[in-house]
Amino acid sequence: MLFKNKNSSNINDDQLALIEYAQARIKSKKKLFYHFSFFIVGSITFLLANLVFDYKSDLALLEYQWSYWICSLWLIIFIFHLFNVYVTNKFIGKKWEKEQLKKLIELQQIRISELKAELEKEARIIAESELYSNKSPKSTVTLIAAASENNVIGKDNKLIWHLSDDLKHFKDLTKGHFVIMGRKTFESMPKALPNRTNIVITRKLDYQAKNAIVVNSLEQALQHAKGDTQPFIIGGGEIYKLAIENADRIELTRVHTSIEGDAFFPEINPVRWKEVSSEKRFKDDKNEYDFTFYRYNKNK
Ligand SMILES: NC(=O)c1ccc[n+]([C@@H]2O[C@H](COP(=O)([O-])OP(=O)(O)OC[C@H]3O[C@@H](n4cnc5c(N)ncnc54)[C@H](OP(=O)(O)O)[C@@H]3O)[C@@H](O)[C@H]2O)c1
Repeated sequence: MLFKNKNSSNINDDQLALIEYAQARIKSKKKLFYHFSFFIVGSITFLLANLVFDYKSDLALLEYQWSYWICSLWLIIFIFHLFNVYVTNKFIGKKWEKEQLKKLIELQQIRISELKAELEKEARIIAESELYSNKSPKSTVTLIAAASENNVIGKDNKLIWHLSDDLKHFKDLTKGHFVIMGRKTFESMPKALPNRTNIVITRKLDYQAKNAIVVNSLEQALQHAKGDTQPFIIGGGEIYKLAIENADRIELTRVHTSIEGDAFFPEINPVRWKEVSSEKRFKDDKNEYDFTFYRYNKNK
């Protein structure tokens, strides 16, 4: 706010506060001077009155008893006044209070802007992670695979075993859902899987896949599958490795054999994953090896 004086010069709020403060100081010093004058005159008057009306020459100083005590008390009051003007008002007066308040407000403003920056940073991280995961918070992204004891899942872009029950297990779980796979896995199959929405991930921009959606990243694939409560990542090795961090569940068929191959399932970190169920099956004429169905849920 601007204040205009008679000479039309502009005085801002700070200058006005300084003038008011200076005027108040002059006033209080004037009062102190009057107080001092009254004190001197008053004390002399009391001492004289005591001397005139109550004088006893042989009792020395204590003869001036009442005037002595009044003057002492007045001196204490005067010293208190003096202290107020020169110490209290100077250092912890209104101006001091204002400065302290200003400093406090400045500190608060710095803290608020720091908090704002922290919040903005956190909001950015959350937005980025949501963008990265691109999955609906209600959906359970599930990796489904069959791996040997040494984590082999395939060789020369082919499956390496015939397990009829595992095939049925796969069909039952994935029916009606989105199935997301790498380009090589898609090419290893005779055609797109029926009764499922097939998504193929490739870096090739002009890749065409019959009866399948083609995308260029896992994020895009999950974006497409957002409406599905349980989209499945069905392989192969590269895509499992890419997706395991974003997944919520693993349906793993552990085939009880060690075998050679060139595509692998990633290691399941026991800190990140909890085994919640298992069901063992035995080798027979339709199933080449013993195997166990395991379900792992990601630790929250
Ligand atoms: N046992 C099981 O449960 C199971 C399940 C599925 C598959 N498999 C086996 O696994 C083997 C295939 O696995 P694989 O690891 O070789 O291949 P894959 O994971 O099926 O596909 C790899 C391809 O995916 C694309 N890709 C990978 N990362 C990408 C990214 N970040 N962005 C965009 N595209 C990306 C690339 O396609 P482009 O080269 O076109 O760019 C890459 O060549 C086969 O032997 C198959 O039989 C086994």
